[in-house]
Amino acid sequence: MPKLPPGPIPAPMPKAPVPVQRPGPPRLPGPRRPSAGQLIAGCAQQFATTPTAAGWARRHVADVLARWGLPELADDCCLVVSELVGNAVQHAVPVGGLAVCRLVLKLYTDAVSVEVWDPSPDTGLRPRKEDVLSESGRGLAIVAALCGAPPAVFAMPGEGKTVVAVLPRGLV
Ligand SMILES: Nc1ncnc2c1ncn2[C@@H]1O[C@H](COP(=O)(O)OP(=O)(O)OP(=O)(O)O)[C@@H](O)[C@H]1O
Ligand SMILES: [Mg+2]
Repeated sequence: MPKLPPGPIPAPMPKAPVPVQRPGPPRLPGPRRPSAGQLIAGCAQQFATTPTAAGWARRHVADVLARWGLPELADDCCLVVSELVGNAVQHAVPVGGLAVCRLVLKLYTDAVSVEVWDPSPDTGLRPRKEDVLSESGRGLAIVAALCGAPPAVFAMPGEGKTVVAVLPRGLV
């Protein structure tokens, strides 16, 4: 048997590190940068998709904007949130079904973004043609008028969608 030359015993090959799967923070819906301004603050809140959701959301928005020192934006922001949360409740969950929708508010130097996630894969926001006699169908038009642009939709395959409206600051 050949004799091994004297010398240091080679160290065992290091094992490849096994990636550790840690649960990350909850995913917040919405695009990273809906505004050109700098992100200052943000908060997320979930609401059960009941008929009272829009009311709870309005109360939450008024509270958050007061804390952000922007009470003058509360009326417009409440209107936008009402319409988007109302749509999540009315159009994104089967009648009688119960789910949650998530509202993310982000404060930018030049805007406040309102992002509403719902579990429906239907990304087709369908602003209705003007019809003075129709009792509904104006929500998206109201949002577009307040924000100066229609809301955008970001689909997440298999994970619902987020509707984003950006309310500029400084117009109020
Ligand atoms: N989150 C959503 N998921 C699926 N479809 C939606 C969603 N939001 C809006 N839609 C579609 O777009 C249409 C127009 O929405 P919009 O808010 O303008 O009117 P409405 O909800 O029908 O009536 P109103 O808001 O005046 O009560 C809705 O009727 C619905 O078909
Ligand atoms: Mg609506």
